[in-house]
Amino acid sequence: MTQRVFSGMQPTSDSLQLGNYLGALKQWVALQDTHDAIYSVVDLHALTVAPDREVLTRRTRATAAQYLAAGVDPSRATLFVQSHVPQHAELTWVLSTFTGMGEAGRMTQFKDKSAKVGESGTNVGLFTYPVLMAADILLYDTNVVPVGEDQRQHLELSRDLAQRLNQRLGEGTAVVPEPHIVKEVAKIYDLQEPTAKMSKSSSSPNGLIEILDDPKAIAKRIKSAVTDADTVIAFDPKNKAGISNLLTIYSALTGRPVADIVADYEGKMYGHLKADLAEVVVGALTPVREAAMEWIESPDKLDVVLADGAAKATAIAQATLERIYDRLGL
Ligand code: ADP
Ligand code: NA
Repeated sequence: MTQRVFSGMQPTSDSLQLGNYLGALKQWVALQDTHDAIYSVVDLHALTVAPDREVLTRRTRATAAQYLAAGVDPSRATLFVQSHVPQHAELTWVLSTFTGMGEAGRMTQFKDKSAKVGESGTNVGLFTYPVLMAADILLYDTNVVPVGEDQRQHLELSRDLAQRLNQRLGEGTAVVPEPHIVKEVAKIYDLQEPTAKMSKSSSSPNGLIEILDDPKAIAKRIKSAVTDADTVIAFDPKNKAGISNLLTIYSALTGRPVADIVADYEGKMYGHLKADLAEVVVGALTPVREAAMEWIESPDKLDVVLADGAAKATAIAQATLERIYDRLGL
């Protein structure tokens, strides 16, 4: 049987960033060919950062638009907005009663985030975030989840919860999801702080390349990327994190091995590499940006696609929830 894959991103910014594109979206698109793929804009997760109403609505649509623009194809994959399928919230409650306090308290992402803002700045939703993520995954009897290193612990919780449901409610209650780790997937670092991963929530605005950036902004951001005092173009993530990150981006977007690119730039200056890389990035992202803008400017059309996706997702989610409720005696 075709394996089912589930993944999602939070609508926490207007534009996704290059790391989301290379580290997630490109794989999602490839997985549509081999898997029964379900992709969600996880807006309930985004509530944990208390966004304004209009901002959340706009970002949810923009995120879906960027999935579509990157090649998520609603005729081959299910694309929906999490809050359109109420079963996510319902299963979250059930799973929260299967999650130990200590177990939830060990989640390092919560510990990191709450350490930054302090107890008064955090909320229970942030604490139970991994339980909602487990509900996202288990609702679709998901076999595989593409995950980055930072989400591994959360996926481990999803697996533990699936196994616990099967122990307490009988085999066949939940499918235990496997991580899908693609070795060749590039990890992209912040342009200003090349030891930190590039992130939508980067603290330095020039640290990231956004999918919706225009060519001038992309060139500017790459030009101002932090490098080092040396002049040699070499791949050495430990000692030359900035240049190595630029080479990784170049390689990921062109499909050329890093060693070949390094050979091309022997004796050349950082400025040459940056100028060429800006062209490569602009070439790769321009069609994505243009397609995304078309979707963003046709919200009615986009909403039809999302309503259709929500209907498909609901049918699966409802069947799973009924199975679990029945075994619980609900
Ligand atoms: P962000 O930090 O931009 O909010 P998320 O943590 O929500 O991104 O991740 C969304 C998806 O994008 C995940 O699959 C994650 O592995 C991938 N991703 C995010 N940032 C990067 C990066 N810098 N390099 C590679 N993949 C990334
Ligand atoms: Na994030």
